[in-house]
Amino acid sequence: MGEKTFYVTTPIYYANAKPHLGHAYTTLVADALTRFKRQRGVDSFFLTGTDEHGINIERAAEARGLPVNEHVDQVVDEFKAAFARLGIEYDRWIRTNDPAHQETVQKLWRILDERGHIYKGSYEGWFCGYCNEFKDADDRVPATDDRGPMCPIHERPLDRVAEESYFFKLSAFQKPLLDLYESHPEFVQPDVRRNEVISFVSGGLKDQSVSRVSVKWGIPVPGDSAHTIYVWFDALSNYISALGWGNDTYHDFDRYWPALHLVGKDILRFHAVYWPAFLMGAGIELPRTVFVHGMLLRGGQKMGKTLGNAIQLEVLHRYFTNDQIRYYLLREVAFGQDGEVTYEGLIDRVNSDLADGLGNLASRTLTMVRNYFAGNPPRPRGEQSVEASDVKLRIEDSKSRFDEEFGALNFSRALEAAWTGIARVDKFITDNQPWKLAKDPSSRSQLEGVLATAYEGLRQLLLIVAPILPVTAREIWNQMGLADDPLQINPNNAKWGEALDVSKIDRISPGFPKLDREKIMAEIENQNAAPVAEQPKPQESAAAQTPTTQSAAASETIAIEDFVKIELRAATVLEAERVPKTDKLLRLIVDLGEAQPRQILAGIAEHYAPEEVVGRKIIVVANLAPRKMRGLESNGMLLAASVGEDGRPVLATFTEDVPNGARLK
Ligand code: MSP
Repeated sequence: MGEKTFYVTTPIYYANAKPHLGHAYTTLVADALTRFKRQRGVDSFFLTGTDEHGINIERAAEARGLPVNEHVDQVVDEFKAAFARLGIEYDRWIRTNDPAHQETVQKLWRILDERGHIYKGSYEGWFCGYCNEFKDADDRVPATDDRGPMCPIHERPLDRVAEESYFFKLSAFQKPLLDLYESHPEFVQPDVRRNEVISFVSGGLKDQSVSRVSVKWGIPVPGDSAHTIYVWFDALSNYISALGWGNDTYHDFDRYWPALHLVGKDILRFHAVYWPAFLMGAGIELPRTVFVHGMLLRGGQKMGKTLGNAIQLEVLHRYFTNDQIRYYLLREVAFGQDGEVTYEGLIDRVNSDLADGLGNLASRTLTMVRNYFAGNPPRPRGEQSVEASDVKLRIEDSKSRFDEEFGALNFSRALEAAWTGIARVDKFITDNQPWKLAKDPSSRSQLEGVLATAYEGLRQLLLIVAPILPVTAREIWNQMGLADDPLQINPNNAKWGEALDVSKIDRISPGFPKLDREKIMAEIENQNAAPVAEQPKPQESAAAQTPTTQSAAASETIAIEDFVKIELRAATVLEAERVPKTDKLLRLIVDLGEAQPRQILAGIAEHYAPEEVVGRKIIVVANLAPRKMRGLESNGMLLAASVGEDGRPVLATFTEDVPNGARLK
């Protein structure tokens, strides 16, 4: 790995609502990553915190009838409690309301001002208080009624702003930014996001308004206290204020900077364009990488407060352990891509990978050691069987693949590699049938060899999964009679079969009991916790009327905000075959530019032969809830014109080349 220090940050969360799984996601990833680095001896620092200024927070406090200070203190306490409950161990919590942070922000401003990057002008345009962003014509849903233009993300009316403002000369940074993306391809990752940023910046940059006179809840502009500093300028600075750049409270900047910033794709531009421009302007070293992850989805839509479809943490905690939640998120969703999360999916993963996989391996290995060796684990020695040597090789391979993938933030693939190792040991046990060997005293040394390999395999695998399953790994580790803490042992230094101080195995608890899917789902549904958990809060209801209500009233036509909910994407058909026992359906595997191709069932088999559609460019409704047909799951729908009296389908396509995944608007 080579690096001596590691600094990872999460976005700082808006102090305007209670935390949900979407917020927990990045923070859990950062936690696992920090544990991974520390386990490998890297001096690490993990920062998270809260974004507490701006019109949005001011309004949230007003709606609750609380002074803003009191409101933010309460929300911060809620966030801290939620993260503690999830077992997250961060090193510092930065608040934009901290005096040390405010000192840093003003210092950064002054430097940029002195260097001629800031000037005074006036701003006239539209602003979304939820994004904290001015919206150009391209970024607005045009007005359809007297509420005026809307934010396409939040589906709420924009504020009209016409006021004096300071501007940052972002336009001057177009070339330096493009040079940065070119010379440091690792600066924005994954590549798809880097390309997005390059194309945005190549299109030209406008100077950025960085102060507001109409917002009082913020950090005053040095020398002009009628203005407060733009929330994103303020918020982004947290990454350096928390280390002590520009203040005397903290002293960690030289030790840990530059950072790995983990951010959601919705805040890419701020991190990959504005933030490096501010830093370049001030002559501060740039972050190492902005790594952009996708959104957790429910029913194809971003999980969040705006849509009221978030998975609530308290529901999760009622049924699942922290390790189960961590494992599911890291394994199920390819980091960097959007991913659907469901209670059912979580239960299934827990049952198949944790209960049947790791849990079963641990309990059968330990039970046999206890039963056949009076709890004293045999250790590998001397010549091993060919199969045992293969197990050892496979586990070494799993370990090195795990390290490589985890280090590149491919968590799902890293876990896949670990589980390949688990499956190998499991198969080894099944193939060798130690329960039969145990019956025959002449097979004693063979039995010893089998269980020594199984025990050692389990020990090695526990070391690598410990950053994701800290509680479980420690629990099994203790039951194995092993000393120390698996999170303090570098897996790369743990040699196969090394001499160990092992105490007797006596207590074996079922580490991963299976979850009862039907029962849990029935309970969750009864509590009405899924999938729409929150009704719009009273203070939000005027702006947040659900579009369904509006469109019902509007009879024949739909509003643009209804249309934008339908995610139409370009795709290519990779495979096609007839679904048995029906003339109507084709089973298609289509590439939508996602990590994995999808399966879609299409009722076109009477008009298209499978070989006619393979290789075709098609249009897919990508966010349709999955449906089962003939026992097969369909994840989306093809678009086709219905022609003639018999409604013959004619597939929609493009006449120009379009990349898979491109959205139709
Ligand atoms: N305050 C800003 C960030 C400032 S960082 C200098 C902000 N806050 S937020 O609370 O709205 O969002 C914080 C992070 O949570 C973002 O990265 C966002 O992508 C993430 N998520 C919120 N909902 C999410 C999902 N449904 N899925 C994944 N991440 C989600 O933006």
